Amino acid sequence: MTKNEIFEGYNDYILSTYTRLPAIFVKGKGMNLIDIDGKKYLDFFPGWGVSNVGHCHPKVMSGVRDQIGKLIHIPNNLYHPQQVKLAREIVRWSFPSKVFFCNSGTEAVEAAIKFTRAFGQGKRYEIITFENSFHGRTLGALSATGQKKYQNGFYPLLEGFKIVPFNNIEAVKSALTDKTIAIMLELVQGEGGVNVAKPEFVKEMKRICAEKNLLLILDEVQTGLGRTGEMFCFKNYGVTPDLMVLAKSLGGGLPIGALLVKKEIAERTSA
Ligand SMILES: Cc1ncc(COP(=O)(O)O)c(C=O)c1O
Repeated sequence: MTKNEIFEGYNDYILSTYTRLPAIFVKGKGMNLIDIDGKKYLDFFPGWGVSNVGHCHPKVMSGVRDQIGKLIHIPNNLYHPQQVKLAREIVRWSFPSKVFFCNSGTEAVEAAIKFTRAFGQGKRYEIITFENSFHGRTLGALSATGQKKYQNGFYPLLEGFKIVPFNNIEAVKSALTDKTIAIMLELVQGEGGVNVAKPEFVKEMKRICAEKNLLLILDEVQTGLGRTGEMFCFKNYGVTPDLMVLAKSLGGGLPIGALLVKKEIAERTSA
């Protein structure tokens, strides 16, 4: 296909949900991208945090090729050895927990919201989230997101979210009610402008959650998998979450999401 055919094809066949730069890349290796004219670029924008190990890492490619040659899909009603291997590895690097796998970050956030509601047993369901946060584009995750520009046009949103200023302990305390069940945050807000959570703020969120029997949910979709110097960003803070959401670089480019739930909480909640 020529460049014009591709641009016109987008006009004719692809719903316009994103603004796009007029670039067409056809190959990637490490941090290099090659465009349709053969021009080489250095990729300083690793797909919103998807390509932590670079483009087409040999280990990712051989793992994918190997598995695709054996078995591509098996439903969740059956067992699969690779699922256990991946869950065990994630748990080994993070905290004692049980893992739910899905296809994207936004789905993993939905899973966190649903698990949290199950934990609240219909009596508590409010989740405190933060201004300038981003948790995804499906309706639940969008309702949790603290940026109107993503929400405009999609009202009414899901109820049960209190969105307060980031790094503001007093604002969180004022938002607490007898319906509160969780606090959800990114330790570094990615889409919101690379805003870093203050250590004292994170420690206080953990303390409040422990005191009031709330769940601390960390959205590590962008910060996870080695993005901040530690395998997971929570390790920089010395604070372990109750729930953690992963996606993006977990799949090295393949669509995957994961929700981790602290083991003792998972074992006493029927979700
Ligand atoms: C912090 C955070 N959470 C959730 C999501 C949603 O992930 P996905 O795009 O895989 O649905 C994103 C996406 O950018 C994100 O940055």
